Amino acid sequence: MKSIDSRKVFLITGGAGFIGSHLADALLQLGHFVRVIDDLSTGKIENIEHLLNHPRFHFARESITNELVLDRLASESDTIIHLAAAVGVKLIVERPVHTIETNVMGTRAVLRAALRYRCRTLLASSSEVYGKGNTLPFSEEDDVVLGPTSKCRWAYAQSKMIDESLGLAYHREFGLDVLAFRLFNTVGPRQTDQYGMVVPTFIRQALRNRPITVFGDGSQRRCFCYVEDVVAAIILLAEKYEVSGKVFNIGGEEETSILDLAQCIRQMTGSVSDIQVIPYSQAYGEGFEDMAYRKPNTHRIRDCVGWEPKYQLGEILGRIIDHEKYPQKNSRVVLQETEASSALRSSSVAHRLSYSSRLRPWHSSAGNGPEPAA
Ligand SMILES: NC(=O)c1ccc[n+]([C@@H]2O[C@H](COP(=O)([O-])OP(=O)(O)OC[C@H]3O[C@@H](n4cnc5c(N)ncnc54)[C@H](O)[C@@H]3O)[C@@H](O)[C@H]2O)c1
Repeated sequence: MKSIDSRKVFLITGGAGFIGSHLADALLQLGHFVRVIDDLSTGKIENIEHLLNHPRFHFARESITNELVLDRLASESDTIIHLAAAVGVKLIVERPVHTIETNVMGTRAVLRAALRYRCRTLLASSSEVYGKGNTLPFSEEDDVVLGPTSKCRWAYAQSKMIDESLGLAYHREFGLDVLAFRLFNTVGPRQTDQYGMVVPTFIRQALRNRPITVFGDGSQRRCFCYVEDVVAAIILLAEKYEVSGKVFNIGGEEETSILDLAQCIRQMTGSVSDIQVIPYSQAYGEGFEDMAYRKPNTHRIRDCVGWEPKYQLGEILGRIIDHEKYPQKNSRVVLQETEASSALRSSSVAHRLSYSSRLRPWHSSAGNGPEPAA
């Protein structure tokens, strides 16, 4: 089944992951049909458990490298949002072959399936592709400076660059409707702390009064963006048809050093944790390289679809801390075909997005009202 009326069929690869599951929630709230393919390698069934019985949701537990399954799902879809990837610094350092093969072969499989059925395709890339570039903030057309191939940390950036180049080549050579978006640090509920993601790691350490482990000297600066803002940006791009063949930055612009982030989280959680500074060599092995700064220039996406992030760092951290403290309150999501969601389907994109970002995706079916973490 492809689209009926204004409702579209979206295939989200990696849709049981952190960003993918929030994207699935938002697209369903907008009245669309959502198919997810995910092998649950870093994603979790808990992230989409609340959707499994939804009439407009379908889940396939499978790898994107299974071309038969991917072919069937693509044949039913209007748009593919390709998020499935080997993600996280720890995973990349520990399993470089898996990282390169998943990201490069997986994207090839997705693009080939998209071409067969002429699906609009949005590829998730990463701020990592800016590597050691020092012209801040990073703009999409900047030159890229990556470290040597002997340092496996760069394999993730290299694989994402190949993904982007391949996607843009499908657009140039075959006229496939493809764009790529480079995500900067995205944070929010459901993000795992297992693969070196800094915010969930610090918050969980602080809430347990365990040492907060800052890797490097803590002077490295990052910008964080709330997942709800990121999802809104992806949907705006998915709904804008004249932007194929381009790359877009998506990220927050408010900078913080990682040491300040640790201090802020300690204060906000009322924790008595020590802050432990651990050299990169100890955390990730000898020769590990990191970037001192990472900040996006978001003019392109602002000009193109009028997106800008709504949440500042303090509010973002407050929401995630609240979610971590009261997971039972926030874990259940029930999406129902309400009057509000059906009205949503017929309204304009701008209205729909502002409405959707006000919807509280973690609200409980028991009718407890809005939850503070949402
Ligand atoms: N979270 C961030 O800050 C961030 C930053 C830059 C880029 N990204 C990109 O955004 C995308 C989503 O990242 P996330 O943070 O939600 O991570 P995530 O690990 O939660 O999501 C990735 C999902 O892909 C699935 N997956 C991995 N390999 C697969 C395969 N072969 N077949 C099917 N599914 C597979 C995983 O099980 C997981 O559910 C990724 O492409 C990532 O590179 C994320």
